[in-house]
Amino acid sequence: MPTAHNRIHVMHGVNLDQLGRRDPTHYGGMTFLQLEQAIDGYAHELGMDARFFQTNHEGEFVEELHRLSDLADALIVNAGAWSHYSRAIGEALQFAGVPAVEVHLSDVMAREPWRHVSVLAEACIATVSGKGVEGYRDAIVALRQDLRP
Ligand code: DQA
Repeated sequence: MPTAHNRIHVMHGVNLDQLGRRDPTHYGGMTFLQLEQAIDGYAHELGMDARFFQTNHEGEFVEELHRLSDLADALIVNAGAWSHYSRAIGEALQFAGVPAVEVHLSDVMAREPWRHVSVLAEACIATVSGKGVEGYRDAIVALRQDLRP
């Protein structure tokens, strides 16, 4: 039974639904469903309640961020390629009203230069990159700490 301040919204952006078909050297072999199931398991283990959202449409992603303060106490965001250039998502995140952690499955700083920039990072309390699915566990731990210091 969820208790107050334990609702984590997990938002995945463009192309993340295609995990399982994407380069396994960067993303591992998990399907998107398996990724969400693993995150759900971490959330249960840590006493949090995870809800999931994914879209390939930037405007839908922005509109979900507009609704976020009614839906959740905290946010994990992996916006995929949008992370590197979508000022629209970055701005929406700034007034979303809940603490957020940015996660990338792959080590973006070790990849192409265009992935080194995140336009979301300044609106997040932390960024976790290159730890695969385990990175989501780190994000839940950080958000739980932020919600219950
Ligand atoms: C990603 C990294 C991004 O650079 C890429 O565009 C993705 C996935 C990751 O999880 O490693 O789609 O966000």
